Amino acid sequence: MLKKVSVTMVLFAFIIGCVGILPAMAAEKIDVRKVAEDLAQYLVSTRRMISQMVDVINTHGAKVEEPLPKDAPYAFKGVIPAYMGRIIGDDFFKNSGIRVKQTTLGKGEYGVRNTYNTADDWEKEVLTRFYEPSYPKGKGYGEEADWEGKKVYRYMLPLYIEKSCLKCHGDPATSPTGDGKDMAGKPMENYLEGEIRGGISVIIPLEEKT
Ligand code: HEC
Repeated sequence: MLKKVSVTMVLFAFIIGCVGILPAMAAEKIDVRKVAEDLAQYLVSTRRMISQMVDVINTHGAKVEEPLPKDAPYAFKGVIPAYMGRIIGDDFFKNSGIRVKQTTLGKGEYGVRNTYNTADDWEKEVLTRFYEPSYPKGKGYGEEADWEGKKVYRYMLPLYIEKSCLKCHGDPATSPTGDGKDMAGKPMENYLEGEIRGGISVIIPLEEKT
């Protein structure tokens, strides 16, 4: 009898303890939307910095935060925002299981430059809304979804053309090779500053890794 009472008391104490712990656990609950938003912004920043650094990377003898050396040889090294976005995204996916990648619907006759960045059905649907002129600038969209048979949180942040992007995606008349192509040899799409270019897509698994 005495044993029974103490078991009940231990159980009771355990339940009371749990009730106390639960709110603490809830406070530590990760806000998956916020994580997705921040990861997308992080890739936008990474890509932006690379875009602004293209001439330093390609100019012989150039150094960060110093004026570009005059009349120095210029050689395109292939280090562009989308390339870095792809390799960083792939490496991050391997190590975290979270997908962060750039995607686009292209512009007019110009489709995607690299098929790696092709939008899947979910991304196409969300991007179509982002491309509406009335869509609020900078507003991301996220929801729970199924992806490759798993429950995930999907999020997309719109990506816009900035001044530094025009060197490669701007007016074909400014082509460095005079043939409407950028330094990477891709046709320039005549984007304008501020125009929607695509999105950063984030996929966070909501189930334990198996
Ligand atoms: C030095 C040239 C260069 C600059 C600067 C540049 N891009 Fe690109 N961009 C490219 C090339 C080349 C590709 C194709 C990438 C590939 O082949 O992997 C590309 C691809 C992309 C893609 C992927 C979709 C697609 O069509 O494949 C997006 C999105 C994009 N660029 C946006 C931007 C934005 C936004 C900026 C400015 C922050 C920018 N780019 C600056 C050359 C450039």
